[in-house]
Amino acid sequence: MEQQVKRIGVLTSGGDAPGMNAAIRAVVRSAVGRGIDCIGIRRGWNGLINSDFVRMDTSSVSHIINKGGTLLYTARSEEFRTVAGQDKALATCKLLGLDAIVAIGGDGTFRGALDLSRRAAEVDYSLQVVGIPATIDNDIGCTHYTIGFDTACNTAIECIDRLRDTMQSHERCSVVEVMGRHAGYLALSVGISAGATAVLIPERKLDFDRDIVEKIRRARLAGTTHYMVVVAEGAGNTMEISRQIHESIGIDPRVTVLGHIQRGGAPTMQDRETASRMGYGAVQAIAEHRGNCVVATQEGRMVVLEMEAALKMTKELDMGRYRILEALTNNCGAL
Ligand code: F6P
Repeated sequence: MEQQVKRIGVLTSGGDAPGMNAAIRAVVRSAVGRGIDCIGIRRGWNGLINSDFVRMDTSSVSHIINKGGTLLYTARSEEFRTVAGQDKALATCKLLGLDAIVAIGGDGTFRGALDLSRRAAEVDYSLQVVGIPATIDNDIGCTHYTIGFDTACNTAIECIDRLRDTMQSHERCSVVEVMGRHAGYLALSVGISAGATAVLIPERKLDFDRDIVEKIRRARLAGTTHYMVVVAEGAGNTMEISRQIHESIGIDPRVTVLGHIQRGGAPTMQDRETASRMGYGAVQAIAEHRGNCVVATQEGRMVVLEMEAALKMTKELDMGRYRILEALTNNCGAL
């Protein structure tokens, strides 16, 4: 018979994402509601290595559902990639009497979670490790959605709407870089929703004439006098793209790199609700002794996937959406 879960740890790791606080709140409150103690591990995996923790109860997560960032702080840990680092982390787990760890973060966090779960098995320490996907990049293969994506998209769209006002007044071209690391999910959703003239994503090999020059040219022929080019950070050098636009068609673009502004701000309803559901689901999985797993969304449903298998999953960017973008911009005359 499985032993009852008594105490769990929760941490956030990697780049922060709006909604992480809502996920922490959900984990803590769901745990406390089941009579499980909850310990907040601070500064990501480093917190487990350095025994950097804080006891949490229902009131320690009051008034955070609406806050961006993470009250547990976050970090990327090189040391945790080593077996020595993982052993130090397991020593902290033992000292604190943790039966499970909930790790909230992106793909680096998940790699760490898998490493820890494997090392725990090797040294025969009974520990459940559960991942909750949170990154503005939405680039985790096993889940349709990652916490933070919607807020980051909305922030970027709001910035682009503002840029559009000034670009329109001066009849200029704007080249805007959005985050996303090696993926184009953020750029594509933002581009569609902001009505961009062109969107460059890493998933599509850049053909400068086809993907930029021709699009601006067609927009001009259709009567447009200002242009918005959205560039995923993984798709190319924004300054270089701007320089090339100037060189090939003579217009002088203004470059804006949105950067970390996309990671901050109050989470949207979608991020608060998804985080709340995933946090609840993670604790439920632990209480049911589901073992090492990831809470994910697939086809709109919340699912719990075995971690090893989940981390092998991949997902493709829906290129149909790229075609929608092309069809809806003011350059579709010759499509
Ligand atoms: O993974 C989230 C993310 O914001 C990426 O979009 C970006 O490439 C990276 O993190 C930036 O990392 P840092 O916060 O270390 O500059």
